[in-house]
Amino acid sequence: MEPTDWTGVYREGRDLYTVNAEPGVRVYGETLRSVGSVEYRQWDPFRSKLAAFLLRGAPADLFRDVRSVLYLGGAHGTTVSHLSDLLPDATIFVIEKSPTVFAPLLALAQRRRNLLPLLADAQLPERYRADVGEVDLLYQDVAQRNQAGIFLENARACLADDGHGVLMLKVRSVTQRRSSAQVIHEARNELARGGFPVRSEAPLAPFSREHVAFVVRP
Ligand SMILES: C[S@@+](CC[C@H](N)C(=O)[O-])C[C@H]1O[C@@H](n2cnc3c(N)ncnc32)[C@H](O)[C@@H]1O
Repeated sequence: MEPTDWTGVYREGRDLYTVNAEPGVRVYGETLRSVGSVEYRQWDPFRSKLAAFLLRGAPADLFRDVRSVLYLGGAHGTTVSHLSDLLPDATIFVIEKSPTVFAPLLALAQRRRNLLPLLADAQLPERYRADVGEVDLLYQDVAQRNQAGIFLENARACLADDGHGVLMLKVRSVTQRRSSAQVIHEARNELARGGFPVRSEAPLAPFSREHVAFVVRP
């Protein structure tokens, strides 16, 4: 098991791992591996767009010095659980609007002290910005038509000046009517016009054919 340039992420062959904050416990049926006294959880890039992004060339400093995270669209907590592993000392606010998936997310947070889930709509950051404050990392994975707009509203509300943001754009949720290239171009322009230019981007194929990851800095 080798450490990688991404803080808290390990690699064995082509597989990524994080150190399991809850030894013996699986969150989504992932493989557990023990090396000496440390237990690692395999991070599946077909189940987590963030793992896919790392394998597709995410910047090495993505998690460096990150003390606080605002995560939009937590769902059952698959990716959230790995962030919780790799940033044990950070505070990770997780916004999720579906009460159905909020229940397992809450159960996960009760076992992991760095997770703070909020049942809220990411389109209304004014409802939680006072609780969240300024964060070093904004991560968004919500399949909505106005994904870039939601991201901009949250970045303006909560992203620190020296922080960075990751938008997992689901191209087909924006529109079925224009080409993928056109939708990606429009989203990139909207982010730049909104004051958050894209510093790097990567399509997530073959792990997810519908998504492109954008990294922005204010
Ligand atoms: C693709 S899933 C997220 C998967 C998760 N990020 C992971 O990797 O484990 C998208 C989630 O976003 C949530 N969502 C969609 N629109 C939202 C909104 N406006 N506010 C908060 N959550 C939203 C959905 O309920 C769903 O759980």
